[in-house]
Amino acid sequence: MTRFENAIAVVTGAGSGIGEATVKRLASEGAKVILVGRTVSKLEKVASDINNNRNEKVAFPFACDVTSEKEVENLVDYVKTEFEDVTVLINNAGGLYNSTIQETSIEKWEEIQNLNVNSVFLVSKKIGKVMMDGSSKNPNVNRSILNVASLSGHKPGAIFPHYSAAKASVINLTKAMAFEYSRSGIRVNSISPGFVETAMVDKGKEKLVKIINKKTTMKRLGQPEEVANAIAFLSSKEASYITGIDMLVDGGYMLT
Ligand SMILES: NC(=O)c1ccc[n+]([C@@H]2O[C@H](COP(=O)([O-])OP(=O)(O)OC[C@H]3O[C@@H](n4cnc5c(N)ncnc54)[C@H](OP(=O)(O)O)[C@@H]3O)[C@@H](O)[C@H]2O)c1
Repeated sequence: MTRFENAIAVVTGAGSGIGEATVKRLASEGAKVILVGRTVSKLEKVASDINNNRNEKVAFPFACDVTSEKEVENLVDYVKTEFEDVTVLINNAGGLYNSTIQETSIEKWEEIQNLNVNSVFLVSKKIGKVMMDGSSKNPNVNRSILNVASLSGHKPGAIFPHYSAAKASVINLTKAMAFEYSRSGIRVNSISPGFVETAMVDKGKEKLVKIINKKTTMKRLGQPEEVANAIAFLSSKEASYITGIDMLVDGGYMLT
């Protein structure tokens, strides 16, 4: 039996980077995956990569802005109608741009909090209710929420204070959720990636990559698949006694 046989997983930000690697990993281990993001073409491309050469469709794209309560409610209606239950939720959507505190308007500050932390609250509240209802009907099923935080939530970056504050919130919100959701048999953990080669940190930015490599114990960027490995472990029943933790996946960046 594979680790995610019978699992129904909702993954936000699934159209690229860490989210893409995660849906591919979960599907390869037996999960049905619901791919959430704003750009339909990206979600469809990843879904068709997964569904190609399979007898049964297991990847389902769903367009949703995770900062919109209405759109998250549409997502809830969709999963309830099509799948009846959700067993795994990965809150991965997030992002940043560079701006110091003095350069940041309150509107931009709020935009970054909305994307990186308010969305985690919103999706975990609404999809979490579906998971809780599922748990009361089927209590002996592995259920897990995994939030993608960041190294920046531990060690803030000078040029993205808004993002660093939001990701520190995600780490603490994860622990608070672990208390509340454990009553329904749902584990809640976060991971904090270091610098990973995605659209956020691409190898074209040579000067930046040089600095990152110098500061990282393992002297290289991480790959999205290496983060997906950690996400899959914490989301699987192999991590059945782990809740409320944050796992660094940073190539030893925090050691330096
Ligand atoms: N790469 C790194 O070095 C690194 C390090 C630490 C933490 N992280 C975290 O890892 C997560 C994934 O990032 P990534 O590096 O894989 O970057 P990415 O490739 O840019 O992925 C982010 C995904 O989130 C989606 N997204 C953005 N805003 C959204 C919204 N409002 N609603 C729904 N989906 C939205 C994007 O698709 P659409 O624009 O189509 O919606 C995109 O596919 C983020 O939370 C990021 O903060 C990354």
